[in-house]
Amino acid sequence: MSAFLSSLLLSLVSAEQRTTAMTETEFKTACRLRSLLDQQAWTFARTMPDNPHEYALRKRWCPPDTFDGTVNVIRQLGSVEKFRGSPYTVLQINEHIYWTMGAPVRSTILINRKRVSAPAAYDPIAKIYDDLFQDAESLQENRKILDRVPVAGQILDIGCGTGLLLDGKSIQPENYYGIDPSRAMLEQLHAKHPRFRVRTLNVAFESYFPRARQKFDSIIALFGSLNYIHPSAWNRLPFLLRPGGTLFLMMFKPDYYPKTNKRSGRDIPFFPTPTSWPGSWPPAVAKDRPETATRRWRRVVLGFPQADIEPFNDYRIVRYENL
Ligand SMILES: C[S@@+](CC[C@H](N)C(=O)[O-])C[C@H]1O[C@@H](n2cnc3c(N)ncnc32)[C@H](O)[C@@H]1O
Repeated sequence: MSAFLSSLLLSLVSAEQRTTAMTETEFKTACRLRSLLDQQAWTFARTMPDNPHEYALRKRWCPPDTFDGTVNVIRQLGSVEKFRGSPYTVLQINEHIYWTMGAPVRSTILINRKRVSAPAAYDPIAKIYDDLFQDAESLQENRKILDRVPVAGQILDIGCGTGLLLDGKSIQPENYYGIDPSRAMLEQLHAKHPRFRVRTLNVAFESYFPRARQKFDSIIALFGSLNYIHPSAWNRLPFLLRPGGTLFLMMFKPDYYPKTNKRSGRDIPFFPTPTSWPGSWPPAVAKDRPETATRRWRRVVLGFPQADIEPFNDYRIVRYENL
């Protein structure tokens, strides 16, 4: 087993045990695992047309000494799902889930993968999403934000949706990465910006792992996208930011109920922005005074003690420059 995978096995806890966010080391190792999985030869499994998937064989695995470690990591980090009544441990990395059969690691001869695209909360409103915000006030708000958002170098647009950032900024496709769990929202983006079809990934931030050592100069989440991501994944943002890079996040103001929900008539669930800790998560800081809570909010949640947080209409703009 390679050194990196064996060190990963020591440092990782299983998915069931995990109650805290991923550490930077764990996140980096998962990104290296992604690069390793990407470089394998995957063959379509013709014998199971009713369950379309691909497999990669131990005998062709490259480098060969990383196969056992990969199987172990999939089993340790993955979660148990039932398929035709039988439990399998599956791990999602970007648009694929990976799994093995139950044999001992040494007797495992292949790793399976399947592309997944689960229904997402924004799917039903994707076709009308842009139309919901065509009033003068919303258009002015969009313009103000697009004037301020930094777009330099390699850009990660988290919860890119129908592509507001691309509507308003001149960006070359090779500098852009957009991620969103709603395939229907991405289809709207592709219709408006066809050259960006290959620059988007249909994945939630929680399952997103860039290539090993890949970092971004501008990390952007417009109009509350972060509030749809589980808070235990928010701490990954600094891991993705290059030195000199800028983070620009628009979060809902505390106690805000999204206009999207009001205007679409759908109760799309979201994670409210905490001001001080509501008690249950994380319990350790529930008793803080407000100033202490704000500092912790920046440090614990976002990993950026020095981030600026500025009110903007119904949002808080969190801005950080990684100087
Ligand atoms: C309010 S919309 C904002 C879309 C776009 N940023 C804009 O400003 O027009 C929120 C977006 O976040 C996406 N989203 C929901 N859950 C997410 C997750 N776990 N990871 C990343 N994006 C998510 C939704 O599908 C939706 O496209």
